[in-house]
Amino acid sequence: MQELIARAVERLRGARRAVALTGAGISIASGIPPFRGKGGLWESYDPMEIASIEALLADPARVWKVLVKDLKAVIERARPNAGHLGLARLEALGILATVITQNIDGLHQKAGNTDVIEFHGTFAWQRCMGCGARIETHRVDDSVLPPRCACGGVLRPDAVFFGEMIPIEALVRAREAAERCDVMLVVGTSAVVQPAASVPVIARQRGAAVIEINPEPTPLTGVVSELRLPAAADEVLPLLLAELESRR
Ligand code: APR
Repeated sequence: MQELIARAVERLRGARRAVALTGAGISIASGIPPFRGKGGLWESYDPMEIASIEALLADPARVWKVLVKDLKAVIERARPNAGHLGLARLEALGILATVITQNIDGLHQKAGNTDVIEFHGTFAWQRCMGCGARIETHRVDDSVLPPRCACGGVLRPDAVFFGEMIPIEALVRAREAAERCDVMLVVGTSAVVQPAASVPVIARQRGAAVIEINPEPTPLTGVVSELRLPAAADEVLPLLLAELESRR
């Protein structure tokens, strides 16, 4: 591991426009379950039945009951872990420019990163399916499901459900960041959901070094990424930062 960390540090030392692409794996140590793999949400549920736009339109009360209400409780309790804080420190050092995240938990912003592209939207806000008004999630009373807006419309997370478009601004900004970056850190994502999974491909094609932090290999490993640190993000990012700071 020490050797792999040293190689990653070598890449990051000279970087000025590094970008991180993050996924559910980075938030596991904050108590938020991932989607795939052991203990993943999709082990217990079929995503198309509770996290697709069709399911939401057909039976919003069920989607709230099975998925959204629990997620609200879990995300409200969650705090950034050493992985999030490591990426914030990397920004403070002038190395990391942008975080592109598939997560909707807002933990990168809480950790201190200032340029965060929320590729799959955010759970911090709910949007009325009737009038489009937005309300902060922590203000929503979920004792009667589904919660409704003052206009009577159903509230839904301002996040991307299966079958929905990625917010166009996020798509454009993520592509620009990937094209410009010198190093891309791919942290805690299985890299199987498109179009997020093609963001590191763009970076690689433009000459960036792609480094994964993931205990498991992904379809990117060895093809798009030149290096994988095979460990938990909250363990390896502090080690990486310590090594980086000792060598500057
Ligand atoms: N540190 C880093 N990575 C980890 C850790 C950890 N402690 N624990 C697990 N992982 C890795 C797993 O090996 C896996 O590759 O994190 C990844 C989590 O993958 P997914 O659960 O598929 O999460 P993600 O890639 O973010 O999913 C993408 O799929 O369901 C949709 O919209 C949802 O944004 C999500 C998208």
